[in-house]
Amino acid sequence: MLFQLFKKIGFILVWMFIIPINALQAQPASTLCATPPMGWNSWNFFEGKISDSIIRQIADALLANGMKDAGYEYIIIDDLWTNGRDKNNVLIADPVRFPYGIKILADYIHSKGLKLGIYSDAAQHTCGGVSGSYGFEELDAKTFASWGIDYLKYDYCNAPEDVITAFTRYKKMSDALKATGRPIVYAICEWGQRKPWLWAKAAGGHLWRTTWDLRDTWQSNNKDLTGIIEIFNDQDSLAQYAGPGGWNDPDMLMVGLYGKGSSSNAGTNGKGCTKTEYETHFALWCMLAAPLIVNSDIRKISSETLQLLTNKDLIAINQDKLGKQANTIYNKDSVQVLMKNLSGGNLAICIFNKSGTAKNISLNLKKDLDVWKPYKYIQAIFKNKNIKANNNLALKLEGHACEVYIFKN
Ligand code: GLA
Repeated sequence: MLFQLFKKIGFILVWMFIIPINALQAQPASTLCATPPMGWNSWNFFEGKISDSIIRQIADALLANGMKDAGYEYIIIDDLWTNGRDKNNVLIADPVRFPYGIKILADYIHSKGLKLGIYSDAAQHTCGGVSGSYGFEELDAKTFASWGIDYLKYDYCNAPEDVITAFTRYKKMSDALKATGRPIVYAICEWGQRKPWLWAKAAGGHLWRTTWDLRDTWQSNNKDLTGIIEIFNDQDSLAQYAGPGGWNDPDMLMVGLYGKGSSSNAGTNGKGCTKTEYETHFALWCMLAAPLIVNSDIRKISSETLQLLTNKDLIAINQDKLGKQANTIYNKDSVQVLMKNLSGGNLAICIFNKSGTAKNISLNLKKDLDVWKPYKYIQAIFKNKNIKANNNLALKLEGHACEVYIFKN
């Protein structure tokens, strides 16, 4: 009760005193993260085993398997890369796993036309217990910029719970990053616990996690409800906060992990998801204009997973320059329909069978989906065919499956 009251007062104070008026006014579309960032992150598959050679192999794989051409750009080294600070308090990479330091690695990544991301925390220690950046924001921002870092994921483990402190600590690092003059994407990661969609952009964030860590399971049996379907259900009211330069982040893609990750298995049966469930997960994240950050070991990716992750029509929906996050327009009998406006007057519609059993679905465009405008044709992405735009969309969907349609002018 008392905690709730403090939380409410905290939000009001942030709005009244901390966020300057000009930060609340409409921002010009930022070129940094004008569309949701796409890339790969080390956490769920490699955790503390991440190294210079793995990062190089991942970069090589991105080029060789076509993922770079599909748009994946940022390679992000997550927690447990550092071994503390030197005598001048400069962060140092683990000398065994990163023997040449981060700058040389960044040069390699840049030579491949890719970008490098790194991780720190707004406290003295990260979630994994190594050095965080609290108290060293300016120094660490300068260090990251001097190494050629292009993206910072900034976590919130071991930091005070209140929103004012969170806002202040996040803004401090963002100001320090800006002061370096290097464009660095700033990913706020406080797991949606202080409604960051209301303040993260004003704190300098280009994306902000909206949930606890996503797990490699359709439905979790843990108290934090972190399965794909549970995290997806939590995103619905947030569409209004997403747009060019600032994105809701429902966490990284579990696609292709098939239970082989580590933290991603916490609270799950360890088996991962089915191919259909990964397809739906990817399609939903594209509809949500979510960052597309792959976690699986793409050096050994199956052609099936690769095909999904490089599906150019789904990626085009995600990367559409209008920058809209889909809204739910229909939700009945375990059938949910999402709609995302696209540039050029086109429309993406995703029909999703939330139940575990197959369903025959028939939806009237006008009556059920409120689509009145005539379109030339409709492209069904998973079925990979064009259909005539008439009054009804009729389809059979297996349990947990979805179909995505692009309505073309
Ligand atoms: C938190 C974050 C994860 C990951 C780990 C690393 O749990 O939410 O995405 O970065 O920390 O320790």
